[in-house]
Amino acid sequence: MALMEIKRYGEQVLSSPSVPVTDIDEEINRLVRSMIETMYAAPGVGLAAPQVGVAKRLAVIDTSAGEDPGKLIVIVNPEIKVAEGEQIGDEGCLSIPGFSADVSRPRRVFVTGVDPNGKPVEYEAKDLLARAFCHEVDHLNGKFFLDYLSPIKRELIKRKIRKKMHSGEW
Ligand code: NI
Repeated sequence: MALMEIKRYGEQVLSSPSVPVTDIDEEINRLVRSMIETMYAAPGVGLAAPQVGVAKRLAVIDTSAGEDPGKLIVIVNPEIKVAEGEQIGDEGCLSIPGFSADVSRPRRVFVTGVDPNGKPVEYEAKDLLARAFCHEVDHLNGKFFLDYLSPIKRELIKRKIRKKMHSGEW
């Protein structure tokens, strides 16, 4: 299984909405396996397909970062049906390495989708898992956690990223 290159903020695929998966074929299954390996190697707790350059609506999540095999979630065409409450916590992104910020997210979400076998699944998630679902679904819609920050905080981070881009460190 090959590790995939994680795209960084600034790449077009990360700021455009991804398209639904219509066929869960061998290609999708290969992609899922590579995404899981790439997430664990990073290491991270979630990875969405556009982060590896594939504009399709699927994501992998493991809030234990590989510590607990039962925590791995692969979700295709996820949809957040219900969101309630609020949590504020530090959030980062593998596509924006070196930066993190406090982000307000729903405390609980109800998510539907299909698993890699095409079977409908639903998750009632709270706390970190709720945050992860929201973060990954945002990626499928071309959004970043930066979009939730105050304009000043967002500009500050974007300036630092632009500097890194100019000096070739991004
Ligand atoms: Ni991310």
